[in-house]
Amino acid sequence: MSVASPAGRVRVGVLVSGSGSNLQALLDAAADPAYPAEITRVIANVPGVYALERAAAAGVPTAVIPHQGRTRASFEAELLASLADVEWVCLAGFMRVLTPSFLDAFPSRVLNVHPALLPAFPGTHGPRQALEYGAVQAGATVHLVDAGVDTGPIVAQGSVAVREDDTEATLAARILGLEHRLYPMALRWAAEGRITIEGRRARIALGSGERRWLVES
Ligand code: GRF
Repeated sequence: MSVASPAGRVRVGVLVSGSGSNLQALLDAAADPAYPAEITRVIANVPGVYALERAAAAGVPTAVIPHQGRTRASFEAELLASLADVEWVCLAGFMRVLTPSFLDAFPSRVLNVHPALLPAFPGTHGPRQALEYGAVQAGATVHLVDAGVDTGPIVAQGSVAVREDDTEATLAARILGLEHRLYPMALRWAAEGRITIEGRRARIALGSGERRWLVES
């Protein structure tokens, strides 16, 4: 399964369903040859999404693998076939839950970014849920993916203050900005083999001055 890239960087596949702004953050980080991961494949489950254009602009091979009108098993088998030569997988706005038949092929090697401070507000509409609940801090989480919905070990988190005049859109935009900073940082740790799992806890071998959290007021 693992095939080293010519530059010795870790080969990463990214799964997307939409705009792909988090994909862009990963592509931008990987544009630096010193970054330890290379995006070698981008797969969308929805045809025509903007994320595919971002990948093409960066010269990354893409595929569209629709999930509709078929079994989950057949969808995931095609995803796996398309990811045969990647070592890590990043979900970036990918709106499908993956089952063990996919995850077992990448044990503790699938990352996701979620727009909430997990374990609060898993699932869809994290920013809306935070606003409606009356939270005064919201944020984003990068975590390893397990078979639950947004339940895997937490790698990094960032928080933002909820403003009195926030709408779902304004809060989501600030959270998205945090996601774009957190995700490349977490993928670096993954690619450098600095993440270990103890129970449900991810441990990171942090370098001097590194932190697993960001705070924006
Ligand atoms: C992000 O908040 C992501 O966490 C969520 O969908 C939003 C859009 O992501 N799952 P992107 O611009 O497609 O990366």
